[in-house]
Amino acid sequence: MVKIGNIELSDFPLLLAPMEDVSDPPFRAVCKENGADLMYTEFVSSEGLIRDAAKSVQKLDIFEYERPVGIQLFGSDVETMGSCAEIASRVNPDLIDINYGCPVKNVACRGAGAALLQDIPKMVKMTESVIKSTHLPVTVKTRLGWDENTRNVEDVAERLQDIGIKALSIHGRTRVQMYKGSADWSLIAKIKENPRITIPIFGNGDIDTPEKALEYKNRYGVDGIMIGRATIGNPWIFNEIKHYLKTGEKLPPPTMEQRVDVCRRHLEFSIRWKGQVAGVFEMRRHYTNYFKGLEHFKPYRMRLVEAPTFDELSSILKEISNDYSEMVC
Ligand SMILES: Cc1cc2nc3c(=O)[nH]c(=O)nc-3n(C[C@H](O)[C@H](O)[C@H](O)COP(=O)(O)O)c2cc1C
Repeated sequence: MVKIGNIELSDFPLLLAPMEDVSDPPFRAVCKENGADLMYTEFVSSEGLIRDAAKSVQKLDIFEYERPVGIQLFGSDVETMGSCAEIASRVNPDLIDINYGCPVKNVACRGAGAALLQDIPKMVKMTESVIKSTHLPVTVKTRLGWDENTRNVEDVAERLQDIGIKALSIHGRTRVQMYKGSADWSLIAKIKENPRITIPIFGNGDIDTPEKALEYKNRYGVDGIMIGRATIGNPWIFNEIKHYLKTGEKLPPPTMEQRVDVCRRHLEFSIRWKGQVAGVFEMRRHYTNYFKGLEHFKPYRMRLVEAPTFDELSSILKEISNDYSEMVC
């Protein structure tokens, strides 16, 4: 069993990566139904949260059925991050995660996210400030380092464990790499081999099939895997990986009926969270992901992004299910 503080997870947990504009409550709900063991909110700006900005506050919405769930915070100011950990703890998530990995200019060039990889003393202070401000376990998500010459995540792991973080997720790329090239998990394996490191270490980057999950589990010895992009339009990847790890057999790909069912569940959760008008609107960006690669799909897509109600969408989804019933994706 893997433990993060007092949170007990299965033997080799599969984590849904925090993803802005993706891992919102409706998406998390379908990932949970399809086998995710631990999930995170999209990153929440500490500057936004302290100003009570609606966008940031809404990202604190969490629901009982998705536990265990962590709220991820990012920011550049040590004190503000502490205050925001306190605010986020009031909605009672299972843990607080700190983002030291975001590479995008708007974040990293303002001293937040991956920028902290260039200032480890400040990262340590910020982490201490968060830990002091919450009764919840604090975890960190980061990258290998800022660039090829400063791959300092081994040092980061020791120093942050020493001050009390309860788990570390590492994306096997540097900030400068952004998403280019392939993720390198060899440093992640070195951290796992370090006898001083006792907290769970989760590997992240490029896992997109059950075979790769098994290969990386065995080769790099991590405590669990965090999956991001491969879950988009494909949340059943969690159960597919679990089944493969357990049996060595691959599950058949989802039928069109199953695909449509998950898409409909996603829509239901979206409406339950935001109401019909906003829920239907927000769901529009997901249809292409659920029905990737289907021939002659465009007319259906047009209807899906125009239909205004759950009932209409539901009947279009039914037509899709019937029309493509012979297809497996
Ligand atoms: C659309 C998108 C949004 C993301 N938003 C966040 C975020 O809010 N917080 C974070 O720590 N990482 C974020 N990431 C990075 C992912 O959590 C993950 O580290 C990265 O995608 C690599 O994992 P993967 O190869 O499994 O996708 C985001 C990635 C994508 C593609």
